[in-house]
Amino acid sequence: MRSSFHSLRAGMVGLGMIFDETYRPFFEQAHAEGIFSNKFGICRVSLAAVASRTGSRAEAYRKAAGDKIAKFASFKEPDSIGQLLKSGVDFVCVATPDDRHFYAAKAAILAGKHVLIEKPSVLTLQELDELAALAIKHNVLAKVVYHKLLDPDHKKLHTLVADGELQHVNTGYCTLLEPKSIATGQFAEWIAGRNPGTYVAVHYIKLIDFTFGGRLVSVACTGQRGIVGSPAGDTWDSTQLRLIYEYADQRQAAFDIHTSWVTPDNFPGYVDQEVQFRFDNGVWNCHSRKRGVECTVEGRTPLTRKINMNNHYNGTFLEPWGERSQRGYGVEVLERFVREVATVQFGGPESERPERLAAARRLSYNDLSADRQTVAAVQAMEAILARHAAGTANCLVEIDHPKGGLVLLPPGKAEAEVLYVGRVNERVE
Ligand SMILES: NC(=O)c1ccc[n+]([C@@H]2O[C@H](COP(=O)([O-])OP(=O)(O)OC[C@H]3O[C@@H](n4cnc5c(N)ncnc54)[C@H](O)[C@@H]3O)[C@@H](O)[C@H]2O)c1
Repeated sequence: MRSSFHSLRAGMVGLGMIFDETYRPFFEQAHAEGIFSNKFGICRVSLAAVASRTGSRAEAYRKAAGDKIAKFASFKEPDSIGQLLKSGVDFVCVATPDDRHFYAAKAAILAGKHVLIEKPSVLTLQELDELAALAIKHNVLAKVVYHKLLDPDHKKLHTLVADGELQHVNTGYCTLLEPKSIATGQFAEWIAGRNPGTYVAVHYIKLIDFTFGGRLVSVACTGQRGIVGSPAGDTWDSTQLRLIYEYADQRQAAFDIHTSWVTPDNFPGYVDQEVQFRFDNGVWNCHSRKRGVECTVEGRTPLTRKINMNNHYNGTFLEPWGERSQRGYGVEVLERFVREVATVQFGGPESERPERLAAARRLSYNDLSADRQTVAAVQAMEAILARHAAGTANCLVEIDHPKGGLVLLPPGKAEAEVLYVGRVNERVE
C-alpha cells in the first residue's frame, strides 16, 4: 500500500557558484512543490544537510533563504562529508572542485547513498572504475551532471542525428571561453596546477561522445600560460584539445575544442559558446550568444548585467502569472536525477527495485558507467598538459593501444607511458 507521500532527504557537498546557480533554485522549488509522477506519486524533497570547507556560505545561504527552504544541518571541515553522511540523507550531490569529487562520491556510495556528481565526474579511469563497481555493490545510482545535454539546441542536434536526418559527422569545432574573474577570483583557492579544458571542454567532450557515439581513438592537446600563472608553470590560461573518433564503418571524425578562463570581464556575455559540426549531408552551427538577446542598460551592461544573456540555462523570471522563478536546463537536469532516484526507491514493489535500478543505469546521458570515454579524454588531456609543463610538448595519447587502454606517446623516440592498463572502449570490436 502506497503512503500518501514519499520523501527524499538530500545532502549537498560544496556550496559554491554552481550550488547557487542551479541546486539552490532546484531545492527551493522542490521545497515549495515537491515532485510528482504517476510512477511514484507525490515525493517531498528536502535539502537536509550541507557540507563545505568553512561553513560560511551555508550560514549566508541560511540567512538569505528564509522560509524558501526547510531547516538544514551544516557541517564543515574536517570530515564535513563523514558528518553529513551520518546525519541521515538519501542521496548526495557533489559540487566540490573537480579534484575532490572522487573522495566525496566514494564516501557517499560506501554509505549506501545515491550520488550525483558535477562534471567532470572524476579525473581518471581508475577512479571511475572504482566508483562504478562500488555503485553496483551497494545498489545505488552514481550519476554525473552534464547540463548542456539538456540545452534545447543540443537536444535538437541529438534528435536530428538519432533520426538520421544529419548523417555521419566528419568534423567539429567547439569553443567555450570563461571570464577572467573565474580564474582570478572565484577559483583562486584551487586553480594552481589546473586548466580550463578539464573545467569546460568536458561539456563538449560529453556532447560529442553522447550525440555521435563511436570509439575515441586519440587525444592531443596544447595550451597557453602566463596570465593566471607563470609562462613556464603548470597553471593554464587556455587549452586547445583535439579528439579523433572512429565509427562502426571505420570512418573517422576530428573535433577541436578551444577553452579559456581569461576572457576580459567586460565581454558582452558571461561566456562565449559556439559549435560547428559538419556532416556528410549538412552543417550544424550554433552560437549561444547569437541565438538570443542583446540588451543594453546605461551604467549596468556589460559588467553588472551582460548584454547577451542565456535565458535557457538558469534565468530568473517574473512569470506571466506573477510569481518569481529561476528555471532552465541547469535546474531541469537536477530534477531529472531526483526523479530517477524517486522512481528507483518508490516506483513499484521493493521486489522489483533491481529492475528499476538497472533501467536507471542504462541512461547513458548521466550514468557513470557511460562516462568512460569522457573521463579518458580528460585524463589524457591532463597527462599531456603535465608533460608539456615538465618540458615535453605535443604528446599524443592513443586509446586502446596494444600497450594499454590509455597510452601517452611523447614525440620522437621517448618511451611510451601507460596511463591506464584496461580497455577503455567496450562498444566496438
Ligand atoms: N555544470 C556547470 O556548468 C558547472 C559550472 C560551474 C561549476 N561546475 C562544477 O561544480 C563543481 C564546483 O564548482 P563551483 O564553481 O561551484 O566551485 P566553487 O569554488 O565556487 O565552490 C566549491 C565549494 O566546494 C566546497 N569544498 C571545497 N573543498 C571541500 C571539501 N574538501 N569538503 C567539502 N566541501 C568542500 C567549498 O567550501 C565551496 O563551497 C566543479 O566540479 C565544477 O566543475 C559545473
